[in-house]
Amino acid sequence: MSERKFQERLDAARAPLGAAQGHGGLVLFHAAPSLWSKAVRLALAEKGAAATAHEMQILGRRFDAGHPAYVRLRLDGIDGRPMVDGFSGRASVRHDGIDPAAVPALVDPAAERVILDPLRMLDHIAALPGPDLSPQRLRTEIARETALVDAAPFEALPYGAHPGGDTRPEPLREAVRGVHDARIRKMMEGRSLSIGHPRLIAAYDAAIRKEAAAKVFAQSAELMRGAVEEVLTLIEGLDTRLADGRQWITGEAFTLADVAWAAALGHLASLGLDIAWTGGHALNGAPRNHVAAYATRLAARETMRAAGLERPGTSARAKPAAATLPMPAARRLHEPLAGHGRDVRDDTLTAAVLATFRDTPNPRAKKVLSAFTRHLHAFLEEVEPTEEEWEFAIEFLTRTGQLSVGGRQEFILLSDVMGATARVDLINHRFPSGATENSVLGPFFVEDRPVFDNGADISGPIKGEKMFFNAKVLDTDGKPIVGARIDIWHADGDGGYDILNPEIDEAAMRGLFRSDPAGRFWFTSVLPASYPIPEDGTVGDLLRIAARSPVRPGHVHVRIEAPGFRRLTTMLFLEGDPYLDADPVFGVKQSLVESFEKKTGVRAPDGRAVPSPAWCVAYDFVLARKDR
Ligand code: BEZ
Ligand code: FE
Repeated sequence: MSERKFQERLDAARAPLGAAQGHGGLVLFHAAPSLWSKAVRLALAEKGAAATAHEMQILGRRFDAGHPAYVRLRLDGIDGRPMVDGFSGRASVRHDGIDPAAVPALVDPAAERVILDPLRMLDHIAALPGPDLSPQRLRTEIARETALVDAAPFEALPYGAHPGGDTRPEPLREAVRGVHDARIRKMMEGRSLSIGHPRLIAAYDAAIRKEAAAKVFAQSAELMRGAVEEVLTLIEGLDTRLADGRQWITGEAFTLADVAWAAALGHLASLGLDIAWTGGHALNGAPRNHVAAYATRLAARETMRAAGLERPGTSARAKPAAATLPMPAARRLHEPLAGHGRDVRDDTLTAAVLATFRDTPNPRAKKVLSAFTRHLHAFLEEVEPTEEEWEFAIEFLTRTGQLSVGGRQEFILLSDVMGATARVDLINHRFPSGATENSVLGPFFVEDRPVFDNGADISGPIKGEKMFFNAKVLDTDGKPIVGARIDIWHADGDGGYDILNPEIDEAAMRGLFRSDPAGRFWFTSVLPASYPIPEDGTVGDLLRIAARSPVRPGHVHVRIEAPGFRRLTTMLFLEGDPYLDADPVFGVKQSLVESFEKKTGVRAPDGRAVPSPAWCVAYDFVLARKDR
């Protein structure tokens, strides 16, 4: 990647976060509740390194780590490693792969590197000028200790509790309520803004799967018990290693291993899990005095304060408010997304909302969201809804969604009666002149239909006046299209479709045909009649409010597919039907209205007799070529 492109990626990821803390050198994306964020902040403070830090919100509704610009930046740091798949309770890149929407991320703009593995971040910082946090002779020991912290299930702890007791301070419990769902919602939003970017979509899918698994983990008493117990055992082991009176965990020198442990112990203290070393608790009776003394030594380091870390020596339960605000409030320096300012008024609101979509990475998503915003605001300005009316509108749409279950799709029906389906149909089926016009599909087409030979009667057990349908499939030069697949479906003389008829369980008045060598297809059935679209839902309410008719004029649906031609979805309407001029779904076109004439003694194209009398229709369906 070019230097300019790298800088653009970095700037894009930083932009939604607003102002940064500190300046120069490395760029850190971190979050207050994240263990490895704490460790990296402490390592930087120990080094006295110049860094630009962006604090990200990961518990609130914003979920900064799910922002597409940040996820995109993280993709640059993947280095061929696998993406996360599920949730083990750890925040370990080594064990679980890359979580594309996680913190921390450390960026070295000079080296154009994005580092996502916390252990590599610590090594990267250790190599900066300043006190030696990773003396050569201690490297094996340091790696052993940091790997222990990395492999422990610290990430799970804030989100759930050991079934034997919840030590988490109340404000934290409150802050994590519903957080998994909120993050998933935010990531679904980011995902939908990333259409057209397959790597981003795959990244979101992985992160969303992980979040769903994390939710299951937090709600499982068994898994949470396991996580807490693993951590208690880890602290017991730490106590044993410290028992020889060593000052720091690898001996006399303060190293990266102590940085990792300081973050880990601070993390536990913020969760009320310092009972792991204070003891005297139902989950852990035994005090671990060596760890307690070690925690006190760590807490005394000036850098802990500078890095904004919890002091592992002090109990979170004693100071619950401090525990949920490990970063001092004054350091929360976010500006609102896209920085549209705070004085939003009548004349500036629409522009302020539009400004929030200014940096939408996907140009199509940007166009759609911006246009929707403009039209929505113009609509609201025009009608000036009361609060009750707006509530009604929301409730109407909510009910429409709730009705859309099983085979029923009330939202499509709403789109139909508002002419939106017809509009999308018109936009997408601009066939050349001479080709048969398209129309709406409707809800009664089904894939699972019987196959018939030409001449068959498809009415099954349905009684009614006979219809004889005699048609050709042609190209725009008038030449027959051989072997086209033709789907037919229609209602009966009472306006009822087979799938709504409780008295029959087989298909009727529907089937699949093929055009013969002369492009012809023909069949017998019953004559359809006009019928009302479903009126028992929100769409029915709307039609009644508007005093609109729900009745569609009688018609036969036809869908034709042939290789090299554009698919035609259309219908033939019965000339003379009284509802032709008021179709509630706007499907009627004059070119599709045809006379069905009652005749006797008619013969089919193969010479066979047609039931007599029959309502006969003849029609040429003309398909547009794909390349025109
Ligand atoms: C139909 O013709 O089958 C139909 C189309 C749109 C809405 C409802 C029914
Ligand atoms: Fe229909």
